[in-house]
Amino acid sequence: GKLRRTFRWAWRLTYLSALGLVGYTAYDIYVDRHPDEQFKPDPNKKTLVILGTGWGSVALLKKLDTENYNVVVVSPRNYFLFTPLLPSCTTGTIEHRSIMEPVRRILRGKKAVAKFFEAEATSVDPERKVVRIADNSEIKGATSETEIPYDMLVVGVGAENATFGIPGVRENSCFLKEIGDAQQIRKKIMDCVETAAFKDQTPEEVDRLMHMVVVGGGPTGVEFAGELQDFFEEDIKKLVPDISPRFKVTLIEALPNVLPMFSKTLIDYTENTLREEKIDIKTKTMVKRVTDKTVEAEVSRPDGTKERVEIPYGLLVWATGNAVRPIVKDLASKIPAQKDSRRGLAVNEYLVVQGTRDIWAIGDCAVAGYAPTAQVASQEGYFLGKLFNNMAKTENHEDRISELSGKLNIAGGNSAEASQEIELLERQLKKIRDIKPFKYSHQGSLAYIGSDKAVADVSWWNGNLATGGSVTYLFWRSVYLSMCFSPRNRVLVLLDWLKSKAFGRDVSRE
Ligand code: FAD
Ligand code: NAI
Repeated sequence: GKLRRTFRWAWRLTYLSALGLVGYTAYDIYVDRHPDEQFKPDPNKKTLVILGTGWGSVALLKKLDTENYNVVVVSPRNYFLFTPLLPSCTTGTIEHRSIMEPVRRILRGKKAVAKFFEAEATSVDPERKVVRIADNSEIKGATSETEIPYDMLVVGVGAENATFGIPGVRENSCFLKEIGDAQQIRKKIMDCVETAAFKDQTPEEVDRLMHMVVVGGGPTGVEFAGELQDFFEEDIKKLVPDISPRFKVTLIEALPNVLPMFSKTLIDYTENTLREEKIDIKTKTMVKRVTDKTVEAEVSRPDGTKERVEIPYGLLVWATGNAVRPIVKDLASKIPAQKDSRRGLAVNEYLVVQGTRDIWAIGDCAVAGYAPTAQVASQEGYFLGKLFNNMAKTENHEDRISELSGKLNIAGGNSAEASQEIELLERQLKKIRDIKPFKYSHQGSLAYIGSDKAVADVSWWNGNLATGGSVTYLFWRSVYLSMCFSPRNRVLVLLDWLKSKAFGRDVSRE
């Protein structure tokens, strides 16, 4: 009897929570589809130009009260990309459009209109306070290059792929940073499989084509290797059984271990899990040269000697971290205080680019002493949004105080109402001005490592929790699902997960 009652209550609770979740999502969708009328931008307000539509810039836009500025957003990408799920797009576990959110929809949800230009910022002139922008898309109008003047500028252009000038990397490998990269990898994996299955293919060529090499044992490389092995185990093996025994994933890392930002226990757990999944991990191996069919690497042996090896591959994915974008290098070269900044724009504790008064930098292009992660970029963007809202409030308050003081002077200082309002405004002003510098709060690190397992190093109460396994994978899924940008993204990702589980991944090569 007692058990049955408990069960009934548990069932009711689950039912109610599911109903609540559906109701909440429906409300979210309704609000998203029926945004309020927008104010027109006020030309007397300051022009705030935001470069980029990534983690940093979009977090800033989300928080910013756009009615306080003339907001102009410039990015060659007219969407926000939820990068943590990008590795899942390379195999079709998730369809790429499910993790993209059009910037037009984001801007339509704001109180006041903000302009968007799909263009690349090519240079900044901090003297004249203008940004040069170019439309590098396929279709061009009569004007495809112009300038935007700014009062305030936020640089959130992210970073590009590091290749360290290693010969052959740009020409022969795929990167994993943008949607186009994931689509290219997805096509190439199946091209390798179909070519390996071609009639009368030589055994050596089958081995080469079915060898998928990943360079870089950071989280991008590890997550991709895990996704690839899943794809093979769950789909390719069933669909192309004759060549499948030759499929092999190799992960190459220059350092002694993968995932250096995780704790030792989780590094060991990850390496053991990857080995169980039959991923070949080659640590202390530095790639020195790449050709169209081989990777040449230098292996450091335990006795201190070095050996050169040649590894044939079918698909090569290069994931060795970040390099500085040309626009950032160019801007840094124009600011004397930035002459020693090699990794991006050095910023102060309010994220102001050092050596300037009206340029801020956030995310992967800023050097603030934190790792280049989405977590850091979004907290920095949020901070700037709050800072700019406060700055506008300060200005509004100051204007109102001087207006009231003027009135008081004319009235001979005897308007009790005006005096009271001034007092209140000054008190509020003090609070607004008292904005603390940016401080990053680390929530933890999460990574998927394949075979429905994930690792997590998360802050827990006042301590740290390091865990790995299938339960962590469920946690990984729920965290990323809840972090998706919009209800639309959330529903699409959930449906993609269900779809690939039920029907398998789609192996058609577009
Ligand atoms: P981005 O998000 O890269 O955005 C830069 C924006 O600037 C883009 O819109 C770009 O189009 C635009 N842009 C580029 N050049 C110009 C130009 N010249 N003018 C104007 N705009 C320009 N971090 C985590 O914390 N957790 C994760 O799980 C995680 N997973 C990841 C998985 C992958 C596969 C990758 C590649 C990264 C992952 N990261 C993760 C890191 C995270 O994505 C980055 O740290 C984050 O995107 C940085 O944000 P950002 O705004 O600086 O740059
Ligand atoms: P990374 O910089 O973290 O790792 C790159 C790895 O490549 C390094 O370990 C480096 O030793 C290795 N490497 C460099 N040159 C090499 C060579 N020639 N041969 C062999 N190995 C070489 O880069 P990654 O993974 O692209 O990540 C970039 C940023 O994004 C990091 O800050 C990371 O934390 C973040 N990120 C976070 C994720 C998460 O939290 N799940 C997922 C993906 C990225």
